[in-house]
Amino acid sequence: MTMTRTQVAIVGGGPAGLMLSHLLHGSGIECVVVDNRTVEEIRTTHRAGILERDSVRLLAETGVYASGHERVITHGDRHGGIYLRFGGESHHIDFEELVGASVWLYPQTDVFVDLHAARVRDGGDLRYGITDTAVHDLDTDLPRVTYADADGQVHQVTADLVVGADGSRSICRDLVAGHDRYFREYPFAWFGILCEAPRSSPELIYARSDRGFALISQRTDTVQRMYFQCDPTEDASAWSDDRIWGELQARLAGPDGFELSEGPVIERTVLPFRSFVQTPMRSGRLLLAGDAAHTVPPTGAKGLNLALADTRVLAEVVERALGKGDLDALDDYTDRALARVWKAQHFSYWMTTMLHRAPGQREHRDFDELRQLGELTSLVSSEAGATYLAEGYTGWPTP
Ligand code: PHB
Repeated sequence: MTMTRTQVAIVGGGPAGLMLSHLLHGSGIECVVVDNRTVEEIRTTHRAGILERDSVRLLAETGVYASGHERVITHGDRHGGIYLRFGGESHHIDFEELVGASVWLYPQTDVFVDLHAARVRDGGDLRYGITDTAVHDLDTDLPRVTYADADGQVHQVTADLVVGADGSRSICRDLVAGHDRYFREYPFAWFGILCEAPRSSPELIYARSDRGFALISQRTDTVQRMYFQCDPTEDASAWSDDRIWGELQARLAGPDGFELSEGPVIERTVLPFRSFVQTPMRSGRLLLAGDAAHTVPPTGAKGLNLALADTRVLAEVVERALGKGDLDALDDYTDRALARVWKAQHFSYWMTTMLHRAPGQREHRDFDELRQLGELTSLVSSEAGATYLAEGYTGWPTP
C-alpha cells in the first residue's frame, strides 16, 4: 500500500473537483484528486454547454489559462439572449438589454479539458482510472481515502478534509451525517443528439409545441446539439435519423417559416431528468460539491454552473479552515451554497414545467396547454417577466 498525506482529498475529478483543486492550489493548499473514470471517459461524455457570466469569470480570472490565452473567451460563443418559441413563433429574450449580461456557449467537455490541462501544468496530483474508492475515519481528525489502481495495488490518501465532488452517483453523499434529501421526478426525459449540420439560429431556441419541448443548441459551425422531450424509457438506438428529424421538424414548424437545418446524427442518448437536493452539504470533515449534492433538470443549463459556484464558496471556507486552523469556517458552507441551489432548483423546475407537455395532457387545447401559453405570452410581453428569466439564466451574483 502506498501512503500519501495531503490537506484535501477530493473524490471526483470532473469540473467541480478540478476547479476546487485549482482554486486551492492557488491558495497554497495541497490536494489529491481521485476518480474512477479515465480522463478519456470524462472528456467524451457530452453534457450541457451554457456558462453563466460568473462561471466564465471564474475560469478566465483565476489563472486556469496562461494570461492572454483564455480559451473560454476566444473559443466560446457569447450569447446575448435566447429565443422562446411557442405557437410556431420565436420571441427573443435579450439578456444584454434586460440585465446587461450574457452567457457563453462553451461545452462542459471543454471546461474539463481546460481545467485538466491547468492542473497538469501546475503539477496537480490527479489519479484517474482507479477502482474501489472508499472513505474512512470521518469521525477522526485524519480521514482517509483508499482505492486500488489498475494493477490492483491499494493506495491510501490521508487528509485534513475530504470533498465529495463525485457526481450524481456519489459514494460520499451517503456518508454525510444526518442528511435529508429532496426529490422531484418528471414524467419525461430528453432525447439528445449531436449532428453534422450548419447552425439554424444565432442563439439557442427553447421551443414549446403540441408534441412537447425541443431545444436547438450548438457546438461549432458544423456540429450542432439538439434535444427533444421523450418518454424516460425511450430506446435511443431505436430512432433512425429520419425519425429524429421528423420529430424535431414537427416541434419547430410554424407560420414564421423557421428552417431547421438537418444532417447526419453522430450521437444519440436519452438523458435522465430529475431534481434532487441533499442537505446538509457538510458534516465534520466531509464536504460535498456539485452533482453529488444536487441535480437539476437540464432545461435552465444550471448543473455545471451550480457546481462551479459551489467550488467558489468551498475554496473560500476551506482556505479559512486550513489556513487559519479554524474548522468553524466550514459551518456556513451549506447555507451559502444552498441559497443558490434552491434558486436554481426553482428556475430549472419553472423553465421545465413552462415548456414541457405532461404525458397525460389531452391532444389539444386542454387547461394546461392554454395556461402554459398564457404564461409564455405574459413572459415575452412583460419587461418584468422577461427580466426574471434573463436574471436567472445569466446567473445571480454570488453574495
Ligand atoms: C447544450 O448545449 O447542451 C444545452 C444548452 C442549454 C440547455 C441544456 C443543454 O438548457
